[in-house]
Amino acid sequence: MSVSAAFPHDVGLLEALATTRAIRRYTDEPVLTRDLEQILWHAGRAPSGSNRQPFRFLVLRNGPNAEAAKALLGEAFRAGWATKRSGDGYRPSRFADSMQHYVDHFEATPVVVLVCLDRYREASPYEGASVYPACQNLLLAARALGYGGALTMWHLGVEDELREMLEIPANVALSACITVGVPAGRHGPLKRKPLEEVVFDGRWGDRPTWITA
Ligand SMILES: Cc1cc2nc3c(=O)[nH]c(=O)nc-3n(C[C@H](O)[C@H](O)[C@H](O)COP(=O)(O)O)c2cc1C
Repeated sequence: MSVSAAFPHDVGLLEALATTRAIRRYTDEPVLTRDLEQILWHAGRAPSGSNRQPFRFLVLRNGPNAEAAKALLGEAFRAGWATKRSGDGYRPSRFADSMQHYVDHFEATPVVVLVCLDRYREASPYEGASVYPACQNLLLAARALGYGGALTMWHLGVEDELREMLEIPANVALSACITVGVPAGRHGPLKRKPLEEVVFDGRWGDRPTWITA
């Protein structure tokens, strides 16, 4: 079955913004190469400071290097979730189950993208601003083509090993690790704070009177 037949995805931009959530369960269908190319092309349309485009996408699919890196990442993800699960006191829930499933099946993730920042100057606290728009573009482009993904940080647990294994130079930051596949579940409404809680009007703390939704 093709991706499009299983997951109709003619979704408008605003609907995609309102419903694209982290997808952590994937079917075993592949991410088609032409779709992956499209996803990465659209990710690369993101803005960056002075249009320097410091983002780089290190793609892990199949083959010995990719499989070894996915195995390493799998260990880091399982450790990351185990620490978070006990540290944050997660009770049994659908969310906790989906996280456990995600990390337990990490090696089977169809596509893993290490989103990197190729530094051209000293690290700055704002440098992520030239990479994370590309991450969100990637997730939205994946959504548009019937896929789903999750942006994660658990790769940092094995950053040194990944650098060595994948020959990532010292001036390159590993900004995010994004997993992509065909969703086993659905996208849907997002749990977010109401707008009046996150918008101030004119002065910090002043609530807008014009928010209706
Ligand atoms: C900076 C950042 C770091 C994140 N790190 C992780 C992570 O390490 N593991 C993970 O499973 N999800 C991670 N996420 C995904 C968030 O948990 C998720 O987007 C958030 O809880 C909202 O859930 P939703 O996308 O399902 O609405 C991260 C997201 C962001 C933006």
